[in-house]
Amino acid sequence: MNDFRPRCHFAPRRNWINDPNGLVFDAATGLYHLFFQHNPFGDVWGHMSWGHATSPDLLHWTELPLAIPEDERASIFSGSIVIDDGNTAGFGAGAWVACYTGCLLRPEGGQAQDIAWSLDRGLTWTKYAGNPVLDLGLREFRDPKVFWHAPTGRWIMAVVLPEERRVAFYASANLRNWTLQSQFGPTGCTIAIWECPDLIHFPALDRWLLKVDTFEGHPAGSGAQCWVGRFDGVRFEADTDAFWADHGSDFYAALSFASLPAGRPPVWMAWMNQHAYAKHTPTSPWRGAMSLPRELGLAQTPEGWRLLQSPVSTEALRGEARHLVGAGLVDAGEVLELRWELDPGEADASTLDLRCGPGGESTQIVIDHRGGMVWIDRSRSGHIPSAAHWQGRREQAWAGARGPLALRVIVDRCSVEVFSGDGLVALTEVIYPGPASQGVAVLKQGPGDWRLSVLTCWPLNA
Ligand code: FRU
Repeated sequence: MNDFRPRCHFAPRRNWINDPNGLVFDAATGLYHLFFQHNPFGDVWGHMSWGHATSPDLLHWTELPLAIPEDERASIFSGSIVIDDGNTAGFGAGAWVACYTGCLLRPEGGQAQDIAWSLDRGLTWTKYAGNPVLDLGLREFRDPKVFWHAPTGRWIMAVVLPEERRVAFYASANLRNWTLQSQFGPTGCTIAIWECPDLIHFPALDRWLLKVDTFEGHPAGSGAQCWVGRFDGVRFEADTDAFWADHGSDFYAALSFASLPAGRPPVWMAWMNQHAYAKHTPTSPWRGAMSLPRELGLAQTPEGWRLLQSPVSTEALRGEARHLVGAGLVDAGEVLELRWELDPGEADASTLDLRCGPGGESTQIVIDHRGGMVWIDRSRSGHIPSAAHWQGRREQAWAGARGPLALRVIVDRCSVEVFSGDGLVALTEVIYPGPASQGVAVLKQGPGDWRLSVLTCWPLNA
């Protein structure tokens, strides 16, 4: 049976996952910790608890026992982890403190922010007896992202009021008592609830990225909207209009790592799926996978500040490179990395067909050089879940599509992630092709000639 299990992306051994939670780097062991929304009992959403995995390189993951289980009071919804070196919360110097939403299991529901702590580097957790630490008596109030704000010497929490389309910022000296500082929104895409905020600092540029996911309204259904601006410890002031972090269908609830070494660019990863069809995806006995972690940057463009994303290096996984010069077809395998260097010259459009196989199966990436667009189309990519938001091409305007360019594409057993060399393009799609679909084809459209097209393919061996 084709179980589609990815080779270089995290997927759980069994059962359902959604959002990444509590991403944290542990300098003492050199391990990256991934916690995640998990149903320990089934392959559809429910009984939300925090699963746990670690990785030395962000490519190979070891799943550990369930970290924070649902109890009779509440499910454990999304949130973040901080390392409390200064023992501000009193759980012990260096305690790991998880800040997450407790979703109450009583009939009338209710969401509030809870904390739990770990003294053994995230393996075992104790829920704080005084939970909740922040409760507005609301049905929906969730997904706290907490970080240390050095200039004001206190913890900051970004948390969403989903129905109001607002991100609220709270401050605390001890992770237990929180005071409202300001609110951001409603603005940008407001047609559906907001979820999973993150606020990420780029110190060298003196700018911050605010990200919040919207359940609908992204061209592909759900997705992550962003603003670049300034944050003074109280208020976020946007310098840009809202823009999408990723123009594909399957990049949701991204979260950045806490406690990365100073000087290292921010790194985030997302749930590579969307709620509209996640439960119809044909994988077993697991369901859901994470994106590759991506390093982040910001750049000034004619449209203002934009996000740059580059997946972590996969060099350590690469087998022998094969090259295709000009148009043609290669038998490339199921799990691969592609680098396509292209000088379009007079060509109108250039096409990269992935996971091509029997019956015309393929996932198509098209660069429209005249129109300055790049798009991906998975409508012939194999198994097609019958659910809203699956069909349709996902496109991104890209000034870089007109000149010489490079694309980097990571293909796993059930996903495609497309990045431009300049970092401005990101398109993430899950696909479910047959195992025999292992071809990659390069084609040119229109009468004009390319100046150059070189495709390099590496098998990835995780
Ligand atoms: C986003 C989300 C979060 C929530 C969690 C519950 O996918 O809906 O807002 O905390 O998933 O699993």
